[in-house]
Amino acid sequence: MSTPLTILGIESSCDDTAAALVRLDGDSAQVLSSVVHGQTALHADFGGVVPEIAARAHAEKLDLAVREAMARAGLTLANVDVVAVTAGPGLIGGVLAGVMCAKGIAAGAGLPLVGVNHLAGHALTPRLTDKAGFPYLMLLVSGGHCQFLIVRGPDDFSRLGGTIDDAPGEAFDKVARLLGLPQPGGPEVERASTVGDASRLRFPRPLLDRAGCDLSFSGLKTAVLRARDSVVAEKGGLTRQDRADLCAGFQAAVCDVLAEKTRRALALYMEEAPPAPLIAVAGGVAANGPVRAALKDVAAQAGARFLAPPLELCTDNAAMIAYAGGVLYRLGHRDDMTLAARPRWPLDAASPAMLGSGKKGAKA
Ligand code: KG4
Ligand code: ZN
Repeated sequence: MSTPLTILGIESSCDDTAAALVRLDGDSAQVLSSVVHGQTALHADFGGVVPEIAARAHAEKLDLAVREAMARAGLTLANVDVVAVTAGPGLIGGVLAGVMCAKGIAAGAGLPLVGVNHLAGHALTPRLTDKAGFPYLMLLVSGGHCQFLIVRGPDDFSRLGGTIDDAPGEAFDKVARLLGLPQPGGPEVERASTVGDASRLRFPRPLLDRAGCDLSFSGLKTAVLRARDSVVAEKGGLTRQDRADLCAGFQAAVCDVLAEKTRRALALYMEEAPPAPLIAVAGGVAANGPVRAALKDVAAQAGARFLAPPLELCTDNAAMIAYAGGVLYRLGHRDDMTLAARPRWPLDAASPAMLGSGKKGAKA
């Protein structure tokens, strides 16, 4: 039996400055504290995350977030066994700020340091929250990521496919922007679509005609832009109902695409005859009611369990980094002061590089 570990996790790869403490004891994990400071207000005037602003805000806030996580857990550095930090992929300035902070703490307190892949943090969350058994299928759907992974072990992932351009959350945000709705756009578009008619404006279902699990959302967003312009040209403006109908049409297209690609990914995963078939989701778009319902249906049809961790552990956070760092540490992973920040870092080095690179940084 391995000795219990207390891990300090640090996350700053996009627009959330986060620190957390996690206790790992055997195969049980407990989140002792998790602090997340978002930067939405800082980027609100720019229509997306500005990397330089994000990096500066991380550098200013990281030590405060760490101190807050320590205080909430009632611990000091003397109680910590390992420092884990996101070392990529992400916006390089932010990742660098986190890595520097973690190196400082590790060197100052004489603690081991483990660099963690942000995507591995998301992908291992179902083990942190629900002790999911390997192998399971993971769908990451956020403003920065979109990929299907078979998670076989803490450092063993196969990527089945992913977006070739925008991430779905990015598309939700852009659609909200072009309809004059506030950011973040996902919840706004979801809300508006509940009173919309999805059949009035029919949008494309990109890449469904192509075999495999790759996805594309950029053309869908452009189709919404064109439809908006033709409604405006015809009627001189957009009514509330027009907006709702555009949102509903877009929402339906996203659900159809995600459902069909998930069906295909599940079929590939089920070929391996997993003992307890499971598909888990992570990322902000997993908060979307119709998306969740569609994925749940697909899972049920394939005879697999569907798992969506609580939203605060689904979206960017440092508890997932602490957990992944602790598990990797147990497997012998160690980093030193040469640990580098990586803008790109594919989880599955064997699969071809993804083409997309959106507002929230590289989609490794
Ligand atoms: O995982 P997350 O907090 O951050 C990263 O992207 O890394 O995800 C944020 C994204 C945003 O694009 C936001 O619009 C989207 O998730 N989102 C939603 C919903 N809630 C958040 N998209 C669709 N429906 C929602 N209810
Ligand atoms: Zn993320």
